[in-house]
Amino acid sequence: MKTITITNQFTIYSKTAELPIEIQNLMQKAIQIRSQAYAPYSKFKVGAAILLENGEIILGTNQENAAYPSGLCAERVAIFQAGTLYPNTLIKTVFITAASDLNPTKTPIPPCGACRQSIAEYELKQDRPIEIYFTGESGDIYKSDSIKNLLPLLFNKNLL
Ligand code: THU
Repeated sequence: MKTITITNQFTIYSKTAELPIEIQNLMQKAIQIRSQAYAPYSKFKVGAAILLENGEIILGTNQENAAYPSGLCAERVAIFQAGTLYPNTLIKTVFITAASDLNPTKTPIPPCGACRQSIAEYELKQDRPIEIYFTGESGDIYKSDSIKNLLPLLFNKNLL
């Protein structure tokens, strides 16, 4: 028997001003679109902004449904839209922000497992890491240099 140790490394920004300018812009876009989330059930609004290599920014918000599982997270709304509109353009960065109407989110809100798996599909497809930033309404902003860091031992097509 043996064990392996997997380390997860995040860069933590405590102030928006510490972020590169293009990421500050991406963050603003994610915050703006977050307010348009359709989250009447959870009251938990998520905004995602995706920066492509061609400079385009693709936005997404969570879309809920009275039949709960029929809804979709903001990250997947955005990344599926990117895959639809720009199937051959590299995805550089995903910025995620979440705010609850019920209690303020002061800690970084990471993407859920299904969104991690979806982001992984595109990172593997393009064979280039996707940077992922995530934050709450206030507080620290976490950055992961690749989805592999957020989803170690990820399931992928080579396992099929
Ligand atoms: N949600 C997202 O949009 N992204 C995530 O990564 C986690 C959760 C949404 C789904 C649902 O509309 C609400 O947040 C509460 O779970």
